[in-house]
Amino acid sequence: MSYALHRNLLKTPPQAVKGDGAHLIDSTGKRYLDASGGAAVSCLGHSHPAIIEAVQRQVEQLPYAHTSFFTTDVLEELAETLVKNAPGMGKVLLLSGGSETIEAALKLSRQYFLESGEPDRHLFIARRQSYHGNTLGALAVGGNEWRRESFRPLLVAGHHIAPCFEYRERAVIETQKEYGSRVALELEAKINELGPKNVAGFVAETVVGATAGAVTAVPGYFGHIREICDRYGIHLILDEVMCGTGRTGSMMAYEQEGISPDMVTMAKGLAAGYQPVGALLCSNKIVDTITSNSGYFQHGHTFMGHATAVAASLATQKVIRDESLLENVVRRGADIRKQLRNAFASHPNIGDVRGRGMFIGVEMVKDRESKEPFDPTMKLHKKVQTQAMDEGLLCYGMGGTIDGRRGDHILLAPPYNLDDAQQRELTDKFVAAVTLALPA
Ligand SMILES: Cc1ncc(COP(=O)(O)O)c(C=O)c1O
Repeated sequence: MSYALHRNLLKTPPQAVKGDGAHLIDSTGKRYLDASGGAAVSCLGHSHPAIIEAVQRQVEQLPYAHTSFFTTDVLEELAETLVKNAPGMGKVLLLSGGSETIEAALKLSRQYFLESGEPDRHLFIARRQSYHGNTLGALAVGGNEWRRESFRPLLVAGHHIAPCFEYRERAVIETQKEYGSRVALELEAKINELGPKNVAGFVAETVVGATAGAVTAVPGYFGHIREICDRYGIHLILDEVMCGTGRTGSMMAYEQEGISPDMVTMAKGLAAGYQPVGALLCSNKIVDTITSNSGYFQHGHTFMGHATAVAASLATQKVIRDESLLENVVRRGADIRKQLRNAFASHPNIGDVRGRGMFIGVEMVKDRESKEPFDPTMKLHKKVQTQAMDEGLLCYGMGGTIDGRRGDHILLAPPYNLDDAQQRELTDKFVAAVTLALPA
């Protein structure tokens, strides 16, 4: 009997007892190749000596100092590193997780408009099928219906437009450019519907993660979105909690879209899972406005800027740079997608293998031609995930890919330092799990 309130109250999960590079080991001694890093968290595997050493050193020297009294050398160094890696950003607020970064972004946006003399601006627009976290503000802006439904009476109104989801929503007669324009223009229509003077910001995952399975936008989409945000004076807030910190092959995923946002959030891989950390970065325009008005961001948490967490994150950034891991992310990520596409070339139920870098989505369908999804009650994504776990492979299955209810996909987010043997193990075990769970 367990006293822990587990996610599933009917089932206690296996006990993880040790991390060994890309593998996790449970209490029975079974080894699992961690091909999803939990949910795109463990980007350096589970036993990197440089991160362990950095955490140990920091705990011995100074585990924690409250940020209303002190800053620390690790906090300053991490802030400089993150800002210099994020084109267009001026300062960073260090927090403890993804949802916290979104809450802070919404409040910073609101405070900016209060102090810049546009007090009516308070509404946020996001995209259907997006996920921005489970706290009430983040859940309110998010567009995943299943996650929001039960808590709707507690949420402030959210406003949503179409995602940019080419596999599902581009019409056959449309070019990529036409499709990208059509869905970007939904933002303009929504701004006009809500009243341009009331809208504060647009929130979007640069590459959609958990809810849709590594969905990249069509080329030009984010450029168009940036243009609309500028025209109406609203903040573009990119959520890179899952897709940032190198996951897509560049430190910030937005670098590959040729734009920069007004704010960007990061978390998951920021300290590779060795400590919980989140970050909200914002432009100098926002910083300068608040500096020259109240001079104070009216927000804070006890554990923000936590010295030990920050030390783990700083060490993570150094390892990614010193071991040139982004090259591995780009090359091996493309290679894994290619291998999976080949392996499933004639599988009737694999509709799409997509993503960028080591952020890989595999969408499963009942019929490849029509893209008809499986009956959601079959929970196909769970079946594949469970089969993979039996094979000794961790991957992240999710249902509701299309509209929060229908559709199944698997997300793969292996460690950036994956080697040849581990890549083989990943593709072999994943193909075996899919083949057993979905007999063609
Ligand atoms: C894009 C995105 N934003 C925000 C969050 C929330 O992060 P956390 O679970 O750390 O609060 C998540 C978590 O999956 C996410 O994928």
